[in-house]
Amino acid sequence: MVGIDFSCPIVQILIALVVTSIIFAISVLRLYCFLTLGKCKSRAKMDGKTVLITGANGGIGRETAKDIAKRGARIILACRNLNAANEVKDEIEKETGNKNVVCKKLDLSSQKSIREFAADINKTESKLDVLIHNAGMALAFRGAKSEDGIELTMATNHYGPFLLTHLLIDLLKKSAPSRIVIVASELYRLASVNLNNLNPINTKPAAYLYYVSKYANIYFARELAKRMEGTNVTVNSLHPGMIDTGIWRSVPFPLNYPMKLITKGFFKTPVQGAQTTIYCAVSDELNNVSGKYFMDCKEHSLSAAASDMDKAKKLWEESAKIVKLTEQDPKI
Ligand SMILES: NC(=O)c1ccc[n+]([C@@H]2O[C@H](COP(=O)([O-])OP(=O)(O)OC[C@H]3O[C@@H](n4cnc5c(N)ncnc54)[C@H](OP(=O)(O)O)[C@@H]3O)[C@@H](O)[C@H]2O)c1
Ligand SMILES: *[C@@H]1O[C@H](CO)[C@@H](O)[C@H](O)[C@H]1NC(C)=O
Ligand SMILES: *[C@@H]1O[C@H](CO)[C@@H](O)[C@H](O)[C@H]1NC(C)=O
Ligand SMILES: *[C@@H]1O[C@H](CO)[C@@H](O)[C@H](O)[C@H]1NC(C)=O
Repeated sequence: MVGIDFSCPIVQILIALVVTSIIFAISVLRLYCFLTLGKCKSRAKMDGKTVLITGANGGIGRETAKDIAKRGARIILACRNLNAANEVKDEIEKETGNKNVVCKKLDLSSQKSIREFAADINKTESKLDVLIHNAGMALAFRGAKSEDGIELTMATNHYGPFLLTHLLIDLLKKSAPSRIVIVASELYRLASVNLNNLNPINTKPAAYLYYVSKYANIYFARELAKRMEGTNVTVNSLHPGMIDTGIWRSVPFPLNYPMKLITKGFFKTPVQGAQTTIYCAVSDELNNVSGKYFMDCKEHSLSAAASDMDKAKKLWEESAKIVKLTEQDPKI
């Protein structure tokens, strides 16, 4: 065994160097997080507007709902867990005084649930000014399938929002000027969409499909914006930042411990994570802006591959088959 002589000045200097470097690296990271903090500065009021937010029972969605409730909008919390949604509804009513908040059951991984939800909204709501596709999930290693036989992450994050948008589009058009906001992720850069395998059930690790699904969100937003030209329905997508929310909960033991350290130590809070979504949903500056991608409340460029409109169109056509759109469904 080689012993380390801590009284040796060289060893002491080395230790001091290592410690200072670590502290320096952490400070730089934290400074970076601080400097890239976009804050929605818009004071736009939303009185008389109806805003639907999916996955609003926790994380970024809950803070988005709270902020927009403060601005006076009618808020629809579309969640798969109604107990959790009702708690958020109570919290919003208490904190903002806005009592115009409703909870509706929506499981985005289920086409049946989406159709029931949309039929209910179509029947009970006379208008819809903003549709926020916020809900999302990720798996770690093991994959899973939805009740429709679709890979679960893709079903929830891409196909569900794709189908829901179709079923609510008439209401959105009728309410124009209206907006669709899609919470994607910069992590799309770690993947690509394979048009030959759009139901990638056996992909390992399943976490990769989270990146693919967020890539699909961006293609969907771009193609939808194109199809909505001239309707006064705008469509924008965004990256919320790296945020300390429930999305990381599928990271298994023992990786969950270092992950917790990272999310608690470096990631932004859900309130900070909601800023860009709020900006896209309410800001007057974006009245006529569509087909763009945002980060830190600013427009941001996409990779060349993500701007490939041929691919976006093909993904759209295949998605329509996978969610089994019928002749009776609204066409976009
Ligand atoms: N956190 C980040 O660093 C980060 C980075 C980039 C993008 N994003 C995106 O931000 C969005 C919000 O995520 P978050 O970070 O706030 O995570 P979160 O705290 O886990 O919230 C996700 C929400 O989506 C809901 N959801 C999941 N599966 C659903 C389903 N099948 N049907 C209906 N709702 C479902 C969840 O409901 P339950 O509570 O019932 O599970 C939850 O309310 C996601 O689209 C995510 O991809 C997050
Ligand atoms: C929504 O309701 C209208 C009638 O108010 C109906 O014409 C339309 O087909 C419905 N759309 C969907 C997707 O249910
Ligand atoms: C879109 O908005 C503009 C200006 O507000 C209006 O002139 C136009 O008729 C609207 N178009 C549609 C399709 O509603
Ligand atoms: C948005 O577009 C409409 C017509 O398309 C125009 O009347 C209006 O001035 C524009 N608003 C802004 C903020 O550019």
